[in-house]
Amino acid sequence: MTKKLHIKTWGCQMNVYDSGRMADVVAPLGYAPSDEAEDADLVIFNTCHIREKASEKLFSELGRLRPLQQAKAAKGERMIVAVAGCVAQAEGAEIQRRMPYVDLVFGPQTYHKLPEMIARVLRESGGVLNTDFPVEPKFDSLPQQQKSGVSAFLSVQEGCNKFCTYCVVPYTRGAEYSRPIAAIVAEAERLVENGTREITLLGQNVNAFHGEGEDGAAWGLGRLLYRLAEIPDLKRLRYMTSHPRNMDDETIKAHRDIPQLMPFLHLPVQSGSDAILEAMNRKHKADDFRRIVDKLRAARPDIALSSDFIVGFPNESDADHAATMQLVSDIGFAQAFSFKYSRRPGTPAAAMPNQIAEDVKDARLQELQNLLRRQQTAFNESMIGKTLPVLFDDDGTHEGQVFGRTPFMQSTYVAAPAAARARFVGQELNVKITAARPSSLSGALAVGI
Ligand code: 5AD
Ligand code: SF4
Repeated sequence: MTKKLHIKTWGCQMNVYDSGRMADVVAPLGYAPSDEAEDADLVIFNTCHIREKASEKLFSELGRLRPLQQAKAAKGERMIVAVAGCVAQAEGAEIQRRMPYVDLVFGPQTYHKLPEMIARVLRESGGVLNTDFPVEPKFDSLPQQQKSGVSAFLSVQEGCNKFCTYCVVPYTRGAEYSRPIAAIVAEAERLVENGTREITLLGQNVNAFHGEGEDGAAWGLGRLLYRLAEIPDLKRLRYMTSHPRNMDDETIKAHRDIPQLMPFLHLPVQSGSDAILEAMNRKHKADDFRRIVDKLRAARPDIALSSDFIVGFPNESDADHAATMQLVSDIGFAQAFSFKYSRRPGTPAAAMPNQIAEDVKDARLQELQNLLRRQQTAFNESMIGKTLPVLFDDDGTHEGQVFGRTPFMQSTYVAAPAAARARFVGQELNVKITAARPSSLSGALAVGI
């Protein structure tokens, strides 16, 4: 009998990928994914700890789940409630103390052991907690990806050794680890055989990726991209998230040479002030970032940039904030994420003096977001009248429309009757852009299909 699995995911693409893999791991036990928690046999909350309120949100969601778990128990059935991800890693014992009906708490490096952990939950009364950083890498023990959409993620690297002073990732995800190249190539080939046309390589520090190549030499991300570009029928390659310090010449050259490597890069800079970058332990200056962008644009003139920013880091002055605004004006971003600094217990910045008042953070965030929004809108509007290749996906399709993405990651909608949709999925077709909104485009097929 199939059992019902409900996974709710917060946070980054890595968590989205992990949730998919968790579903793969438990599929052989008969669990089939469902969008609803009601009547589920297994509910997994895959959490994110990067900013505040993650645990409060989690506790309120868990509270909402309790009656569903009780309703199931009243029928003589069991709903296993599991908390995964970075909140589980950081606050596992606290979760179990406050929410004793949570059956299973496990960290991001342990989910390949889900079948075993579920068996323990069913066998033993009392919760199971597993927040090990196992020595044997979990990737080696994961089954093949089951679901393979037009656009797929492929995790190539995990963890982080950089210890930016505001960030929990090195503590929740552990040290940097790169997957073996042969396993990555095999997974990419399998995805493409199953219909995937776009692969996004994932890693917390994806461009810190390194491994022994097929020729026995040391390969970085650049070489890996060249290798993956040899796979026939793989139309698009992307990677995220990168660190400016690891943006090496080989990877930049890959942007020049590989047509499948999309001209869009998410490269977090966090701040435009050297003093703040130093206090953040970013180990690069604002001008280093400008120089990297110059090189990228020399290699691939149409490359569009995305970034992450933190405003209100401890000690940030008006002048520091102005330096961030200046950097944004100088570079011009196609899109970006910006956040108020959030004090994370246990990180060095949480203990720094001169924490910034909330109203100052709010004002700085608003000013920065206004500028970023104007840049994003201008970027989207610059597409009107152009013809762009759009890769059509089955996800996100609305009534009477099909959905795809431009090389620059813009969501693009094209009118199409429901009966014609299947012909679009997985195709990269030229679309003439007719309208732009702050976060999407619409257009018409340049040539009918
Ligand atoms: N406060 C605010 N933003 C943060 N980020 C990471 N840690 C914090 C924090 N403590 C942001 C960074 C990072 C993105 C994933 O989240 O900008 O690039
Ligand atoms: Fe966090 Fe910095 Fe590592 Fe990114 S590079 S995951 S911001 S510590």
